[in-house]
Amino acid sequence: MAFEMITVDTEDYVALIRLNRPDALNALNSQLLDELCTALEEADGSEKVRCIVITGSEKAFAAGADIKEMSEKSFVDVFTENMFAGANDRITRIRKPVIAAVAGYALGGGCELAMACDFIIAADTAKFGQPEINLGVMAGLGGTQRLTRFVGKSKSMDMNLTGRFMTAEEAERAGLVSRVVPAKKLMEEAMAAAQKIAEKSMLSVMAIKESVNRSYETTLAEGILFERRVFHSMFATEDQKEGMSAFMEKRQPQFRDK
Ligand code: HXC
Repeated sequence: MAFEMITVDTEDYVALIRLNRPDALNALNSQLLDELCTALEEADGSEKVRCIVITGSEKAFAAGADIKEMSEKSFVDVFTENMFAGANDRITRIRKPVIAAVAGYALGGGCELAMACDFIIAADTAKFGQPEINLGVMAGLGGTQRLTRFVGKSKSMDMNLTGRFMTAEEAERAGLVSRVVPAKKLMEEAMAAAQKIAEKSMLSVMAIKESVNRSYETTLAEGILFERRVFHSMFATEDQKEGMSAFMEKRQPQFRDK
């Protein structure tokens, strides 16, 4: 599929997906979301990709769902087409790790897209918010759900009810982002993190992603049991033997995803 609203560059086992609708601050319209999901699925299925990075521009990761596209829709339209359910489901099904590298605005659907990634590295210029309330609607791609789990009820209520923006510093303090870096270093840091992940065994990487995500879906006891079962299963892999032998032999492991 030829992409018009994103670019994809794959190098050294990392796929870099850049949202590229500068005139609309990367507002998420249906074409952009479809291209993004398709690119994610292609990367997930490619042997040349072991980690994925999604980014936007210096000014905006994404300023939300496309208000112009949404404005004329009726309840029947959005209910019938199940607006954003497809994108949410497709992103959630990606098994390889996805890092959001966020500079500038990550608002509404943009903030929700970043939260749907596995972790967020933010530039010190990043601004997060769920301003849908100012449009007479509410979040629709996880803004009342993922944000609440990440930053707690009080701050999520504050963000969703007032529509105010959070700085990168506040987002880090609240646990929304994993690290904040100077804007000039954002891509270097994000690509280095992706590179580091790409060197690991994909079996461990995908099992960890599945297990951490499980913690949001189940009780602690069930989650611990799930983790233990997956942990036990890793002893059936060659990479477990290689990783532990390499440690004892004081050398770097050569993982083969087997
Ligand atoms: C469509 C958008 C847009 C959006 C910006 N633009 N955000 N178009 N949908 N979400 C367009 C503007 O219309 C303008 O185009 C161009 O991008 C530049 O934006 P400006 O407003 O001129 O820039 P600036 O003054 O710097 O202000 C930046 C901003 C502001 C603070 C980010 O654009 C803004 O408030 N945007 C809307 C943010 C928002 O409400 N997001 C939530 C959307 S609802 P023109 O052609 O006029 O120059 C949502 C629902 C989620 O996300 C549900 C699940 C996905």
